[in-house]
Amino acid sequence: ARAALARRVDALMRTVPDFPEPGIQFRDIMPLLADADAFAAVVDAFAAAVPEPVDLVAGMEARGFLLAAPVATALGAGVVPVRKAGKLPGPVASQSYALEYGTAAVEVQPFTIPDGARVLVIDDVLATGGTAAATVRLLEECGADVVGLSFLVELEALAGRAQLEGHRVDALLAL
Ligand code: PRP
Repeated sequence: ARAALARRVDALMRTVPDFPEPGIQFRDIMPLLADADAFAAVVDAFAAAVPEPVDLVAGMEARGFLLAAPVATALGAGVVPVRKAGKLPGPVASQSYALEYGTAAVEVQPFTIPDGARVLVIDDVLATGGTAAATVRLLEECGADVVGLSFLVELEALAGRAQLEGHRVDALLAL
C-alpha cells in the first residue's frame, strides 16, 4: 500500500526547472494537496509510520505546515511552526545554517515546547538537509526530544539524510 501511495505521490508531483532560481529543480506538491483522496492517504501514511507517542509535530515553513497540522491531529498531538527568521513574535529561539550563498535561520517559540516533549519533525522535501538539521538543533536546544523526521520526498543525490544521523528519518518517496 505504501509503495502504491509513493507511486501516486510521484505521479501527482510536478518538477519545475529553474525555480525559484536558475539551476534548481523545484518539486511542487500542490497538485497532491489539491487531491482530497491522495492528501488524506498521505496524512494517514505519515501518522501510521510513527512508532512511538508524540506530543508535538513541528512543521517547517511553508509547505511543512500544511502536512504537520493534519498529521498532528491524527496523532493527538499539538503543532509547532518552525518559521524563517523574523516571522514569529518573541521570545524566539533561533538556529542559523549555511546556504550555498550566505546563511538562513529557523525560529520557534520555546515557551510552546515543554521540557522533554516528544517532537516529530515534518516537511515536504528533504534536499541538502540544511533546514532539517537546523530544525533538530533548534528543537533540542529548546529541550525537546526529537523522535523522528518524516518527509514526503527525499532527494537522495543531495544526501540530506547524512546530516540527520542518530535520528529516525522516513520518506514516502525517494527520488
Ligand atoms: C524547501 C523545502 C524544505 C527545504 C529543503 O523549502 O520545503 O523546507 O527547502 O531544503 P534543504 O534540505 O536543502 O534545506 P523552501 O526553502 O522552498 O521554503 P518554502 O516552503 O517557505 O517555500
